[in-house]
Amino acid sequence: DGDLAAIAAIIEEFRQSEGPLLPILHGVQREFGYIPEYAKQMIATALNLSRAEVHGVVTFYHDFRDHPTGRHVLKLCRAEACQSMNGEPLAERVKTMLGIDWHETTADGAVTLEPVFCLGLCAQAPAAMLDGEVHARLDEHCLTGLLKEVSR
Ligand code: FES
Repeated sequence: DGDLAAIAAIIEEFRQSEGPLLPILHGVQREFGYIPEYAKQMIATALNLSRAEVHGVVTFYHDFRDHPTGRHVLKLCRAEACQSMNGEPLAERVKTMLGIDWHETTADGAVTLEPVFCLGLCAQAPAAMLDGEVHARLDEHCLTGLLKEVSR
């Protein structure tokens, strides 16, 4: 099927390079938006690794996802400047409002919540990114607005 062929092509493209695993994973995620389970097995076989090793790398790096995301992706900054500006209670509030934890997607598929480690907006902390667009100086009010936006 097309998916398998696409994954095979990505593996082929990078397998001769030094340290091929990360470029292959990035390629698959670019193509599919996440790393499907069957891709892990194909990559493992091609690189002579175990599926568990490939899975370990996928879960270790925050950049990679195991599951497709929701229609929106909300990333909240968890690095120091944002933490010191009320980031943690805000994050807890978002989790409660959405009923999900980090890396999870709401049951209606509307939004995936992900942590991010510094968006370069430390002077305007706390910061978040919604579908690639940054939002700074967040407070509960802005967050409620963002969440309303994503629930559509
Ligand atoms: Fe959050 Fe830098 S610490 S933007």
